Amino acid sequence: MTGPGGPEAAAAYGNGTPDGPLVPFDPTKPNIARAYDYLLGGKDHFPPDRELAGRLVALYPGVRQMVRENRRFLIRALDYVAAQAISQYADLGAGLPTSPAVHDIVHRHDATASVVYVDNDPVVINHLRALAASREDHVDAVAGDVAKPAAVLDTVQATGLIDLGKPVCLIAAMVLHFQDAATAREITAAYIARLAPGSHVIITVACGEPAIGQQITRTYNAAPVFNHTPADVASFFTGLDLIQPGIADARAWKPGWHTPAPYQQRPGQVLAGIGVTPSQPAP
Ligand SMILES: C[S@@+](CC[C@H](N)C(=O)[O-])C[C@H]1O[C@@H](n2cnc3c(N)ncnc32)[C@H](O)[C@@H]1O
Repeated sequence: MTGPGGPEAAAAYGNGTPDGPLVPFDPTKPNIARAYDYLLGGKDHFPPDRELAGRLVALYPGVRQMVRENRRFLIRALDYVAAQAISQYADLGAGLPTSPAVHDIVHRHDATASVVYVDNDPVVINHLRALAASREDHVDAVAGDVAKPAAVLDTVQATGLIDLGKPVCLIAAMVLHFQDAATAREITAAYIARLAPGSHVIITVACGEPAIGQQITRTYNAAPVFNHTPADVASFFTGLDLIQPGIADARAWKPGWHTPAPYQQRPGQVLAGIGVTPSQPAP
């Protein structure tokens, strides 16, 4: 592992997020962000992260494709949202920097767009902060527990980069499967309730057919992980108007298509979509 991180990063952020503990730095145990970075072909990981990723790939080789499909979907989704003149982005459970990062994508449309990255892993925050330091005033990274929507949104707003009175884009990519379905539903509903009309919410969730999903959740030991059903994922978008083609396999989601593009069925997929907060909240 190279670059900013390690125990110094943990120390820099004190005891925790505004409403919960940070993930302690421990290179002897597998870590969510580092194992994912390894699957994406990144450079920030230790042997336990690679061992965990290796076990997942041995169970289901499609895992590697899924993480890439997620990132490719994010590029298309952010291109779409940026084209709607949204200029403020909060990326929840942002993960270690990868290319292109969220700010790279949206700055192609609007160099002044604000991006605030949120994570509960101090090493992730430090890496993202280092990246942000070279981006003048438009990018920041803060500590936050995705499961505490009020505290996260207060922290995001306190950066001075994001005005929650105006439409924003909230991204929750590959992070809601670290909460059980009922909690993920409550969390997303709480975020959605606080967003200005016209805000966009991008959600992606890794899902597996029950047989493979159960094996993956049993094997994954960086944190508790849940295999959400397509109905669960749909419930995370409650209160939002879905952008066509709705909630679809990440490979098949192209903005403006009325039906998902054709793709080959697989036991594992990333379900993805974009919803918009309506001008009148649902009664
Ligand atoms: C699988 S990575 C996904 C990274 C990125 N969102 C993507 O889709 O490429 C999950 C990230 O969420 C973070 N995370 C997990 N649970 C979290 C929580 N409760 N609060 C904040 N961040 C969390 C992890 O530290 C990790 O960086």
